[in-house]
Amino acid sequence: MKKVVFFNGSPRSDGNTVSIMNAMAKAVRDCGAEAKFYNLLKMKYRACQGCFGCRFQEDCTIKDEISEAINELKTADAVVIGSPIYMMQVCGPIKNLYDRFFPLTDMEWKPRFGTKKAITVYSQGADDPHAYESYFEYLHSLFPMFGFKLIDCMICAEGNDPSRADTNQEIMLHAYEAGMRLVKD
Ligand SMILES: Cc1cc2nc3c(=O)[nH]c(=O)nc-3n(C[C@H](O)[C@H](O)[C@H](O)COP(=O)(O)O)c2cc1C
Repeated sequence: MKKVVFFNGSPRSDGNTVSIMNAMAKAVRDCGAEAKFYNLLKMKYRACQGCFGCRFQEDCTIKDEISEAINELKTADAVVIGSPIYMMQVCGPIKNLYDRFFPLTDMEWKPRFGTKKAITVYSQGADDPHAYESYFEYLHSLFPMFGFKLIDCMICAEGNDPSRADTNQEIMLHAYEAGMRLVKD
């Protein structure tokens, strides 16, 4: 069975990032695949300690809830990473997650655990959906070393209203179809 791992960085359980990711997870399950959903704000995990242990072994030296989730990711077919935009960047929990992804890449910046389809989801207060485009491009340039092949990037603009996404049929349909693409060959 195919497996998709979802990492949500939004603290708002009724917010836009979660609504979009839930629609993707539903599509994954409707296709007969497994969707593992992690809400980072509910998890106990440490920031990367900078020990460089993962340069010489495949595992993180820290054992906590995020290392368990990353172990799931190692054997997954796809990943979805969702974040609200805080201070023109991804929120803190997602930044900490990226640091903890260090074990996914080897000494030559090659992925240790194969290629996985990836989708990113962002919700922002700004009304211009292109406002943070160059930042997203820069951030996504990390992905090849983790083995992430980006197939879509969904942006919810004017997202201070938590119901912006789930009241917009076009966004919800896009999310569902994107979820299906994660598990279809
Ligand atoms: C601390 C904080 C900082 C924020 N910074 C930005 C920002 O720099 N740019 C922006 O467009 N929106 C910013 N916002 C608004 C959020 O991105 C917006 O409310 C988002 O849609 C929330 O996503 P959610 O519904 O998934 O929780 C900020 C919100 C908070 C709480």
